[in-house]
Amino acid sequence: MRIIVTGGSGFLGTHMIRALKNEGHEVKNIDLRPSRDNDVNTIIADIRNTDLMKQHIKDAEVVFHFAGLIEAGESVKFPQKYVDTNISGTISVLEAMRVNNIKTIIFSSSAAVYGEPLNIPIKEDDRTIPINPYGMNKLAMEGLISSYVEAHKFTGVALRYFNLYGPEEHHMPESHAMPRFIKQIFNNQEVTVYGNGEHKRDYIHIRDIVSAHFKALDYAIKNPEKYHYFNLSTEKPSTVLEIAREVEKAMNKQAKITYLAERPGDPLVLYANAQKARQYLGWQAQVSLEDGVKETVDYFLKYWEK
Ligand SMILES: NC(=O)c1ccc[n+]([C@@H]2O[C@H](COP(=O)([O-])OP(=O)(O)OC[C@H]3O[C@@H](n4cnc5c(N)ncnc54)[C@H](O)[C@@H]3O)[C@@H](O)[C@H]2O)c1
Repeated sequence: MRIIVTGGSGFLGTHMIRALKNEGHEVKNIDLRPSRDNDVNTIIADIRNTDLMKQHIKDAEVVFHFAGLIEAGESVKFPQKYVDTNISGTISVLEAMRVNNIKTIIFSSSAAVYGEPLNIPIKEDDRTIPINPYGMNKLAMEGLISSYVEAHKFTGVALRYFNLYGPEEHHMPESHAMPRFIKQIFNNQEVTVYGNGEHKRDYIHIRDIVSAHFKALDYAIKNPEKYHYFNLSTEKPSTVLEIAREVEKAMNKQAKITYLAERPGDPLVLYANAQKARQYLGWQAQVSLEDGVKETVDYFLKYWEK
């Protein structure tokens, strides 16, 4: 198939494009920055620029929409910037799809749409009251996609996930726990955890997320002109301390852990139920935390050696 990926130079996009190309798909990436892989057809463009999007989002059957700003904490400080990039950018992408008659979109949503959950594990139809602008953006972006499904006979799939991890995760700055812990232990720095480290989170390996996107694409093709939304979860949450211990084990080195004050609005346990994805997509997370952390640590050690 001919597939356009927005944000294809990022962490998820890089893995996704490689996997799509391996399966023989023809891929075009749209991002503000070049791809890490030289063989990726990349258009450097801002998704907020509707004219440019109309020019480049064409001659494809599907769009995987990953581009955007991703830091919940930063979104609290700069809500307007988040709305401009994530929400206005998504309107641009959808408009470009509409005028060029591309009707299928697979979207990276987030468990941040749920905010402070009332029930754990979270189910798709639990209440969605985001507690930061990032989560609000994701919910609004889902709402835009479902509006295009209704008004223009689009097919949309939103995949909601928590903490991705895996090789080649390089966010700037890196606020995500796994690469941060690996770096801090490697550099003999203190590993900082909030509260007592017993907060449980859902860490999901990038390969499992990529495989879910393939299943979502199949599902979209078989179930057109509808809006679909799924949680992606391992259903096996780990405490922050367990993650640190797993990294220590893989690095064969002890962490110096420093405990910082608890962050307000940081729920103790946060993970989702993945029954719907199991049932309709036939998807289930496969990579164990032990194997995934080992692979990630090996990647970073080799990367820093270079
Ligand atoms: N990483 C996670 O843990 C996680 C969890 C839930 C959801 N998500 C979502 O998955 C998607 C991908 O996440 P990621 O970790 O790969 O992030 P990332 O920051 O590595 O990738 C995002 C990409 O979008 C590009 N981008 C940003 N603004 C743009 C703009 N205006 N125009 C064009 N390109 C722009 C960036 O250059 C970057 O390459 C995001 O939408 C994110 O919200 C990520």
